[in-house]
Amino acid sequence: MRQPMIAGNWKMNGSTASVKELIAGIKAGMASVSKAAVVVCPPAIYIPQVMADITGSKIACGSQNIADQDKGAFTGEIAGSMLKDLGCQYAIIGHSERRSLYGESDELIAKRFAAARRAGIKPIFCIGETLAEREKGITNDICARQIDAVIALEGVAALADGVIAYEPVWAIGTGKTASPQQAQEVHAFIRGKIAKLDKAVAEKVQILYGGSMNAANATELLAQPDIDGGLIGGAALKAEDFLTICRAAG
Ligand code: 13P
Repeated sequence: MRQPMIAGNWKMNGSTASVKELIAGIKAGMASVSKAAVVVCPPAIYIPQVMADITGSKIACGSQNIADQDKGAFTGEIAGSMLKDLGCQYAIIGHSERRSLYGESDELIAKRFAAARRAGIKPIFCIGETLAEREKGITNDICARQIDAVIALEGVAALADGVIAYEPVWAIGTGKTASPQQAQEVHAFIRGKIAKLDKAVAEKVQILYGGSMNAANATELLAQPDIDGGLIGGAALKAEDFLTICRAAG
């Protein structure tokens, strides 16, 4: 059985005060979350504060990216060893905002995946199609291409060291969620694709859905057999909404 996971991607939001309040709010409600692994991914600069504040709770912390290199002259990058040093267990990689706004390629993202593994950090590996790609009927091809980049570099077994997040780009921050059927269809395709190479890895890997998941639609999405959790943007910034989603998982 795969453990459900709910991860909050805070993106570039927050302040010392708001981070404190948000973590306090989530922490206060954690007793009501029985099954889901709960992860928060703050902006990197707030990771030490979050690590201090989640001490003694079951909340885990992740970063929003990770360097593809291990150390040295890479201005602006944060190494996996540094994240590990601070106590981070996860790193989001390949988010569509990184792909589209900062030009990150499938190959670079695969290298980030590899770097996370070297550091003992679990990558939360984001994939997904744009609206134009969905309308062209190439959703599965796009997801396959994005996954194949990691398989080419690291081998299929590596996928079991991470978490996959299917995030249709057209559903991110738009309030337009994929229907449970649309999401399940792609999740099943992803798992089926991996199963062709390695059944055990396909059974083990958690596949999260992301894209306008909120307190109102989470239950139906999370009830799908191949949806193992959620990667939450906007709704992760409100403790009560985030906790409602966490409670809906499992
Ligand atoms: P929203 O939940 O705000 O649509 O964002 C989803 C997302 O990008 C999580 O990584």
